[in-house]
Amino acid sequence: MRKKLLVGNWKMNGRRVMANELCAAIVNEMQNLKNIDVALCPPFILLDEARKMTAGSECMLGAQDLDMHDDGAYTGQVSAGMLKDAGCEWVIIGHSERRTLFGETNLTVGKKTKQALNRGLKPIVCVGETEDERKTGQETSIVQEQLQSVIDEIGIDSCKDITIAYEPVWAIGTGLTATPEEAQGMHSFIRKQLRSQHDETAKACRILYGGSMKQNNASSLLGCPDIDGGLIGGASLNADEFLGICRSA
Ligand code: PGA
Repeated sequence: MRKKLLVGNWKMNGRRVMANELCAAIVNEMQNLKNIDVALCPPFILLDEARKMTAGSECMLGAQDLDMHDDGAYTGQVSAGMLKDAGCEWVIIGHSERRTLFGETNLTVGKKTKQALNRGLKPIVCVGETEDERKTGQETSIVQEQLQSVIDEIGIDSCKDITIAYEPVWAIGTGLTATPEEAQGMHSFIRKQLRSQHDETAKACRILYGGSMKQNNASSLLGCPDIDGGLIGGASLNADEFLGICRSA
């Protein structure tokens, strides 16, 4: 049985006061959230605040990106070693906003995933098609290509150590959600792709859904056999919404 994983992606939101309040509310509820994993991914600059607030609790910490290199002359970047030092266990890689707004490619996503694994971070690798790609029936080929380029970079054996997040771009921050059937269809397609290369990896790998997951649609999505949790953006900025999603898992 794969344990459900709920990840809050705060994106570029928050101040220290907000981080304090949100973490406090979530930590306070953690003892009632048995049998699920919860991780919060605040902006880099709020990681330390979040680390202090979640210390000693079951709530884990992650970052939203990392650089593919070790420490060095890369102005503005943040390394895996820094993230570990800041208390991170997880790191989101290849979010669609990174791909579309900051020019990340399948190649850089693969390299970042490898770097995270090599430095002991758990990567959450995002894949997903745009609205146009779905309208023209290319969704599975796009996702297959995104996933395969990561597999090619890290090797199929290492895929048991990554988490995949299927996030249809048209559902991110739009209020549109994939139906449970659409989401389950893609999750099962992703698992099949893993299974065709390594059966054990396919069984172990958690595949999260992301894209306007809310309290009111979470249980139908999280009830699907191949949906192992959620990557939650907007709703993770509100403790009641986020905890509501966690409870339905
Ligand atoms: P959303 O974002 O929940 O606000 O749609 C999800 C994500 O981008 O990870």
